Amino acid sequence: MTLTHNQARDFYDRFGKRQDYQFYAAVPSSKLMARANFEEAESIFEFGCGTGRFAAELLADVTSDRTTYTGTDISGTMVALTQQRLKQYGARAQVNISDGKPLIREENEAFDRFVCNYVLDLLDTDAIGTVLNEAYRILKPNGLICLISLTHGNSVPARLVETIWTWLYRIKASLVGGCRPIRLGEFVGSPNWRVEYLHSVSSFGITSEVLVAKRL
Ligand SMILES: C[S@@+](CC[C@H](N)C(=O)[O-])C[C@H]1O[C@@H](n2cnc3c(N)ncnc32)[C@H](O)[C@@H]1O
Repeated sequence: MTLTHNQARDFYDRFGKRQDYQFYAAVPSSKLMARANFEEAESIFEFGCGTGRFAAELLADVTSDRTTYTGTDISGTMVALTQQRLKQYGARAQVNISDGKPLIREENEAFDRFVCNYVLDLLDTDAIGTVLNEAYRILKPNGLICLISLTHGNSVPARLVETIWTWLYRIKASLVGGCRPIRLGEFVGSPNWRVEYLHSVSSFGITSEVLVAKRL
């Protein structure tokens, strides 16, 4: 059973900065960073920006000085952390609170990149579909959707970790941040998308999937 919006907000309001110590996210994040040509992007949108860790790295090390960033999150704590982290970028970086609905308050075909890291895996299947439709709507043609999620273990130790993780999720989803393993490839494909990169990587026994697809 996925977390309700209120449960997700309460959990991440309390969790706050501890999100940055999710050690298993570093390797998948660097793979995504390397595979999505962020240096060519003029406008980036992020759904579920968390503490702003990924955005801060992008703006500091990868994108051009003109690139704009728009982030959204259901948690007021997370929005405040991201705003603080990105304040040096002034109007180039906008961070807004969301009501948790998968609908996005942005214009059609406004962005070159749509980022969503470790958020689809805590939404129900219908909400995942709506977020992806919204990504399609707000991306420019040939823009890239850039996703990371928890996925199924890709080795014997990783499958053992997955079994324990899934067991905790079933007892109480918030014990594992509301996230459960999914396969991104089941949600992203033709006719809307052409998958350019799909890779699963285990770090500390936790397996993540990284997907980059072009909006057709
Ligand atoms: C596991 S954290 C990942 C944060 C960040 N993307 C990262 O990779 O570090 C999930 C994030 O999604 C946010 N979130 C959860 N449900 C959401 C929803 N329905 N709409 C927007 N954000 C949501 C949480 O507040 C939290 O910041």
